[in-house]
Amino acid sequence: MKTINIPLPANAYPVVVGHGALAGLADLLGKYRLGTDAVIISNPKVFGLHGRQLQGVLRKAGVTAKVLLVADSEKSKSMATAVRLIDQVVRYSVGRKCFIVAFGGGVTGDLAGFVAAVTKRGLPFIQVPTTFLAQIDSSIGGKVAVDLPAGKNLVGAFYHPRFVLADTAFLETLSGRQIRNGLAEAVKYGVIADARLFSFMEKEYRRLVENDLSVITPVVSACAAIKAKIVAADEKETRGLRTILNFGHTIGHAIETTAGYTLYQHGEAVALGMRAAASISVRMKLLDPMVHFRIETLLTAFGLPENIEGCSLPGILSAMRFDKKFSGKTNRFVLARDIGDVVLQEGVDLALISAVVGKMLIRRRSSRLLSH
Ligand SMILES: NC(=O)c1ccc[n+]([C@@H]2O[C@H](COP(=O)([O-])OP(=O)(O)OC[C@H]3O[C@@H](n4cnc5c(N)ncnc54)[C@H](O)[C@@H]3O)[C@@H](O)[C@H]2O)c1
Ligand SMILES: [Zn+2]
Repeated sequence: MKTINIPLPANAYPVVVGHGALAGLADLLGKYRLGTDAVIISNPKVFGLHGRQLQGVLRKAGVTAKVLLVADSEKSKSMATAVRLIDQVVRYSVGRKCFIVAFGGGVTGDLAGFVAAVTKRGLPFIQVPTTFLAQIDSSIGGKVAVDLPAGKNLVGAFYHPRFVLADTAFLETLSGRQIRNGLAEAVKYGVIADARLFSFMEKEYRRLVENDLSVITPVVSACAAIKAKIVAADEKETRGLRTILNFGHTIGHAIETTAGYTLYQHGEAVALGMRAAASISVRMKLLDPMVHFRIETLLTAFGLPENIEGCSLPGILSAMRFDKKFSGKTNRFVLARDIGDVVLQEGVDLALISAVVGKMLIRRRSSRLLSH
């Protein structure tokens, strides 16, 4: 078991990572005095697979839990679902001191965290992430949000959990596609901060794609540690440091929005966004083409998409304007200088972005996306 501390001045909390980490839940609940009444927010799939195990551990810890399930879809990250949950939590918490358990992937974590942040001006919550992507990224750092039709995560807050418990045993039931989805964010960590992690993934790509937990678990720890360090250095993203976590996300989010959140999972769209950002970096003479080749090769080895489908160039460019990283009228990109070294660049030429994205667009469906 590995504990990674996020030393925030007012909100310090641990991220506990390990195979079988759930066994430590009772101790953590006691240590952080979360009380004996929980509301678990999850979806039918995750709860069906692992809910009994979670409830068993909670029961042993003397915690009574009410379970609220939402549909298994990015569409659940909506104001409508949040309002419904808030109403249910408020009703249940009459006469009780409740905490919320976010139990699922990034969709559940973002949504449940948002509900916790705004219900009665803030209820304590814990993150028990069950996807690879949620364990390495979304459960850490306190960004909670729901989407609007105009774009992703447009209503949200910074609201930290009391702790994050990432048990990699949950990952055993993930599909190959979900593992690849998380591997996209892992590539992001390598590019923005950790050349050693990147090399490890190049060497172990086969076992990683096969969801071999002996290599997945150290990748979860390494990525969680990078995120923890970046969040600790720039909690509210006011210093430009945390922004580097958005490598690949400016175009990635625009692709997700344009494709309607159904064709691509988040990591897949981010992989396309990273390919585009790396390409822009080369064309701006920031990145050596050979290093660009390594990034493309690793993404391809992980089975991540190479071409953009289901989107038009004007659609992507217009969706990009809603990106929170745009400061006023100028765009802001995270570009790569090397593996482990990125830079923030304002005002990237729109013609260059259009050329790079245009080259990646295709109309036919790629066979890679269809194979699960
Ligand atoms: N808050 C942040 O800082 C942050 C960072 C990155 C991503 N995100 C958000 O995270 C979301 C994507 O998260 P995700 O990729 O985890 O998607 P997700 O939550 O939709 O989960 C993917 C799928 O895996 C299923 N699943 C979850 N755990 C499982 C398990 N153990 N076994 C089998 N199936 C399981 C889910 O039911 C779902 O069908 C996006 O909304 C994105 O915006 C947030
Ligand atoms: Zn992401």
